[in-house]
Amino acid sequence: MAKPYPKEDHLIGNFAPLRMESNVDDLIIEGNVPLEINGSYYRNGPDPKFSPRGGKSHWFGGDGMVHAFHINNGKVSYINRWMRTVKWLKEHEAGEALFPSGMDPTDTDPSVQGLETDGLANTSIVSHAGKLLALEEAHAPFEFDPFTLKSIGSHTFDSKLQGPVTAHPKVDPVTGELLFFGYMADGFFSDTIRYTSVSKDGKISKSELIKAPFPSMVHDFFATENYIIIPVFPLTGDFERVINGGPAFAWEPEKGSHICVMPRNGTAKDAKWIEADPTFVFHYMNSYEENGSIICDCMEFGLPPLFPYADGTMPKQSEAEAKHARWEIDIKNSKLIKTSLDNITGEFPRFDERFALRKYAHGYYAGSIGNHPKGMSLNSIIHYDYNTGERKSYTTAEGGAVGEPVFAPKSKDSKDGEGWLIATEYNGAENRSNLIFLDAQHVDDGPVATAQLPHRVPYGFHGWFENRA
Ligand SMILES: [Fe+2]
Repeated sequence: MAKPYPKEDHLIGNFAPLRMESNVDDLIIEGNVPLEINGSYYRNGPDPKFSPRGGKSHWFGGDGMVHAFHINNGKVSYINRWMRTVKWLKEHEAGEALFPSGMDPTDTDPSVQGLETDGLANTSIVSHAGKLLALEEAHAPFEFDPFTLKSIGSHTFDSKLQGPVTAHPKVDPVTGELLFFGYMADGFFSDTIRYTSVSKDGKISKSELIKAPFPSMVHDFFATENYIIIPVFPLTGDFERVINGGPAFAWEPEKGSHICVMPRNGTAKDAKWIEADPTFVFHYMNSYEENGSIICDCMEFGLPPLFPYADGTMPKQSEAEAKHARWEIDIKNSKLIKTSLDNITGEFPRFDERFALRKYAHGYYAGSIGNHPKGMSLNSIIHYDYNTGERKSYTTAEGGAVGEPVFAPKSKDSKDGEGWLIATEYNGAENRSNLIFLDAQHVDDGPVATAQLPHRVPYGFHGWFENRA
């Protein structure tokens, strides 16, 4: 019999796991889903199948569940499935959690001690070279069927992949390459980062091992036509600290930020490190080169949410709020110059990815507008125009929340920003979720269509739109 889940913040309300798999053939729709949208929107997130072990759990530690909305001819169908990882299969068989649900690798049931796993597949989704992949950041990508969501398994690029893969690879829309890195590349708590590029046809074309200043959790990176940039922040990993009863990952601001800039056509020997004040970014929007500098837009925190200091105490979570910022990296003078773009809290930045790694003008993210609990509470879809500095927003009803807005272009040739934003929306009053469609140029008009699910999509992480138009 399944045990009750502890009443931890990430296991209650709309964080609570859905714990079921379902199909809804034809969702009820208010408004009109634009007929130009033909494709699938996928959303990944943690949905722990069993109550966590030992009372030490973390939001990031739940089993990956993919929610797919197949959209065609104004109709939307829905399917959700857990990814059948080694962990999921072993725990399904045992009827209880066997693997750590938190960040402590020692918290493992003896029956699976030492067993090699393929991760959680719970963070994001990317499509490349005909494969749809669920990503986490400590393992290889996990392939699944785009329609049935049936698990296919670990994808290791013809067994050539070395080390883990970030949840945030970049697809270069011009060359068709997939670019990614993996931190702790030589094993958990190692201080190396491996950068890999994959050709348009899915073959690894470059693999470079870079030594970082210290082992740390590195969630995202950014790239331009000619550079890859991997910022390393002082969210450190330390096995000795774990042995002594401390946290596996901790915020050590005194170690500063270190930004690796490497030419895409170079090697690890060409990597240059730029030092900067302590800061923290989970997610970058987009980046490009201009006048010898690298411009990057991001959601920047003063300190990371959900992680303690090295002594185990938690920083004030009200200080762990991200704000929209522009970074300019002066490569020649090794300087980082920052500009604040907005004062509202936000996260989950996305843009029209046909313009990835190149100059663009429109960014989108989930933000907090009006009264909201301090920390992170995202109730609005934001559009930011980088040409004018104008912000437009759509705010959901009280008690609701929105997920990451993913861009779907109006057509293959439409201009930057001409298209729709697709996002999940939690309806707090009815305790269920919607998939909403907004005109990306007029988000303040509210959704043009709302597809209603009879149940919740728990708060999760990242989405992907697979365009079949
Ligand atoms: Fe992420």
